[in-house]
Amino acid sequence: MIFVTGGAGFIGANFVLNWLAQSDEHVLNYDKLTYAGNLNNLVSLRDDARHLFVQGDINDTDLLQTLFAQHQPRAIVHFAAESHVDRSIHGPAAFVTTNVNGTFSLLEAARSYWQTLDVEKKAAFRFLHVSTDEVYGSLGAEDPAFTETTAYAPNSPYSASKAASDHLVRAYHHTYGLPVLTTNCSNNYGPYHFPEKLIPLIITNARQGKDLPVYGDGLQVRDWLYVTDHCTAIRTVLENGRPGETYNVGGWNEQTNISVVHTLCDLLDELQPKASGSYRDQIRHITDRPGHDRRYAIDARKIERELGWKPQETFSSGLRKTVAWYLANDAWVSNVQSGDYTKWIDLQYQSKTTT
Ligand code: NAD
Ligand code: TYD
Repeated sequence: MIFVTGGAGFIGANFVLNWLAQSDEHVLNYDKLTYAGNLNNLVSLRDDARHLFVQGDINDTDLLQTLFAQHQPRAIVHFAAESHVDRSIHGPAAFVTTNVNGTFSLLEAARSYWQTLDVEKKAAFRFLHVSTDEVYGSLGAEDPAFTETTAYAPNSPYSASKAASDHLVRAYHHTYGLPVLTTNCSNNYGPYHFPEKLIPLIITNARQGKDLPVYGDGLQVRDWLYVTDHCTAIRTVLENGRPGETYNVGGWNEQTNISVVHTLCDLLDELQPKASGSYRDQIRHITDRPGHDRRYAIDARKIERELGWKPQETFSSGLRKTVAWYLANDAWVSNVQSGDYTKWIDLQYQSKTTT
């Protein structure tokens, strides 16, 4: 079996669903269920004996050790994290607690379990750490894309905490020989994406007649990858990646934020037209994010060359699927928008002025 952390969040849930659609190997899904964790993402697995969910914190080394001893996973796939840059600006402490201390505690539990394995199982064991391109910092318009050897230069509390976790993972390989793999991926989008992030926020706000907030001039650039392609990349690295290596994962798809927002408005105009006007009329440029990274771009040639992975979706096909998923899943949206969601939206957007 494999042990997945953070499997009730956006990418983790997509990964677990994708895994069990292709394999009968069991998954132990370990998740604290923070605001971002949602068991509704996994409702289709409710009666599936291949999926075992345990609510727990990655800082709980004792519980992790008990579960490892009991279930004997052949691999750990580590998604659990605080993941939203804007939240890291308002409250960085949780990012250090989960992303740094939590990854450390998980590594400690993994190391002590790994040491109990026989030679063959020890060699086959993998700890796959899911990280981000944001650890590399911000690029200028003409700079080459991030490669696996680009120097780390994280700029937000989120990316700094992920960078720290990447370093710990690296050190556990170098010092203890733990067979680790790290993936650094660009911005994901797709089903089950919590509507605090750009793409689901724009889709849900547009449909609810709200402003579509674009930070600053909207000319910041991100590389976007459909979430299923990221899941396939992780599976590929898990099976064939070389321990101790890092792999950049990206969609070869750089877009400015304003262009993403325009494309989403155009798709919604086509799939669910308003009574009058276009969704573009709801766009508002607001105060920029402090320390906002201008451009991310991923050079994903290593994973293609060494492991044969390439994204399958284009931005156009992936975005169309994503919008269609949100249009078909109102109940999921209203469920995640209840509770603390409104408090976050008020905190983040109420004080921002239109520019
Ligand atoms: P998410 O915020 O949607 O989900 C995070 C999950 O982790 C949630 O289910 C949450 O309950 C769980 N979690 C949080 N703290 C925990 C703790 N202390 N113990 C156990 N579980 C905890 O995040 P996501 O977008 O799915 O991202 C998953 C991983 O992928 C993260 O490590 C993130 O840094 C990385 N990543 C994300 C993107 C992206 O575009 N979303 C891109 C590259 C890398
Ligand atoms: P986000 O989805 O938060 O991902 P990240 O900051 O990790 O790249 O944001 C993607 C881009 O969209 C980023 O440049 C910030 C911008 N953005 C907005 O312009 N408006 C918004 O309301 C949000 C949430 C993000």
